[in-house]
Amino acid sequence: LYEKIATDLAQRRWSLAPGFLADTHWLRLAERARRAWTEGELRPARVGQAASSALRPDVRSDWIGWLEPGVTRPELADYLARMEDLRLGLNRSAYLGLLDFETHLAVYPPGAAYSRHRDRFARDSRRALSTILYLNEDWKPDDGGALRLHLADGAREIEPRGGALVIFASDLEHEVLPARRERLSLAGWFRRRAQARDTA
Ligand code: OGA
Ligand code: MN
Repeated sequence: LYEKIATDLAQRRWSLAPGFLADTHWLRLAERARRAWTEGELRPARVGQAASSALRPDVRSDWIGWLEPGVTRPELADYLARMEDLRLGLNRSAYLGLLDFETHLAVYPPGAAYSRHRDRFARDSRRALSTILYLNEDWKPDDGGALRLHLADGAREIEPRGGALVIFASDLEHEVLPARRERLSLAGWFRRRAQARDTA
């Protein structure tokens, strides 16, 4: 599987792995995301980095909760272990030099969206690959909420089906179309070393 993902990334800069996690696993992650949401553990996502970040509900209206590296809840620890395996597998298959991984839960309430953007910051190019693991049961085309990737040869839409992992180059433009029902996911980024032209 890691070789297929590495090949896809080299050839077209994105890859989709349906059933990346077993149903029993992602359903527990979905339960965790819903609980984080109902218990007020999530915050409105901000746009931009650190001190210069801002609330821009016109740009993005999801709610997020960052995972700490030492999480102890088994479903979250298992997810981090699985992503660590993927990081090592991609480094072996494609010499990508991925150093670490950062990730957050995301809940898009009905109507929420994220307009066209890149995940790599202008002043901080460490984000190499973006990963989104979807946590939605029985997603229907009418539910909206597709991820739209803007590729060199046109746009491609991906439905946020539970257990599927999409992975793409973090400098690709993409957007989340408005969903008609609650949309759950874990978004993450494999990072490389900072480049000399990055500014602190
Ligand atoms: C993001 C993002 C896409 C998705 O969180 O930066 O683009 O499909 N998410 O949730
Ligand atoms: Mn993004």
